[in-house]
Amino acid sequence: MNILFIGDIVAKAGRKVVARMISQLQEEVELDFIIANGENATHGKGLSHDNYEELIDAGIDCITLGNHFAARKDLLEYIDGCDNLIRPYNLHYSLPGLGSVLIEAYSGVKIRVTSLLGRSYINLNATNPFEALKEIINDDDANIHIVDFHAEATGEKMALAYAFDGQISALIGTHTHVQTCDSRILPGGTAYISDVGMCGPYNGILGVNKDDVIKKTWTGYPTSFSIDDSDKEAVFNAVILSFDENYKCFAIKPIYEIINLEEV
Ligand SMILES: [Fe+2]
Ligand SMILES: [Fe+2]
Repeated sequence: MNILFIGDIVAKAGRKVVARMISQLQEEVELDFIIANGENATHGKGLSHDNYEELIDAGIDCITLGNHFAARKDLLEYIDGCDNLIRPYNLHYSLPGLGSVLIEAYSGVKIRVTSLLGRSYINLNATNPFEALKEIINDDDANIHIVDFHAEATGEKMALAYAFDGQISALIGTHTHVQTCDSRILPGGTAYISDVGMCGPYNGILGVNKDDVIKKTWTGYPTSFSIDDSDKEAVFNAVILSFDENYKCFAIKPIYEIINLEEV
């Protein structure tokens, strides 16, 4: 079986390219389950309920979030009604939503999806992701366990992956929006990539308007980032995880495509 994991979906261009690539990939390879990070799906920050439904309609089975999960306050009101939308697990218990879910996929395969937040260079009150993952896998009867580790530092991502190598099916890094070329199966059998990358406007910086980022980094002038809706190209970043009949992941294949949005 194959699981498609799609990196951070950024704004309308990201949603558009994801819908197009899911249908294209489904013609080329059998996709049994699709996970996507949706923390930037609504105009670059957060996820509205309409956009949540749009992504589910596009064929996504489970949506993970990240440090921007609460950028739109309405998510805090609707997340509890969505059993396939997860916020980072290692945040304060009083926040609404779950951080790890067990979903029964086709022919009864139990797939656990977990969202964890890193602590290096991420300004949120996250608890220890190692202790959190240890707690989740204790007594778990999932056949497959995919962890979205939303973190900035590659070293922190590798440390969590090696610490749980063989105990989880895959650790997929998200958040930096740039795909790394280090996808591999670790010695214990866990599939790994430091960052899967993002889906969204191609001619910007990490999906947002490049002029805003240049102004802010050059001058320090307080600038809020906008989305350049005139960009005619979008990037699609994902990995395909392939599993054998014993639910062991034997391959992780990165996908990096530039799509002309005028042809979508
Ligand atoms: Fe992101
Ligand atoms: Fe993020």
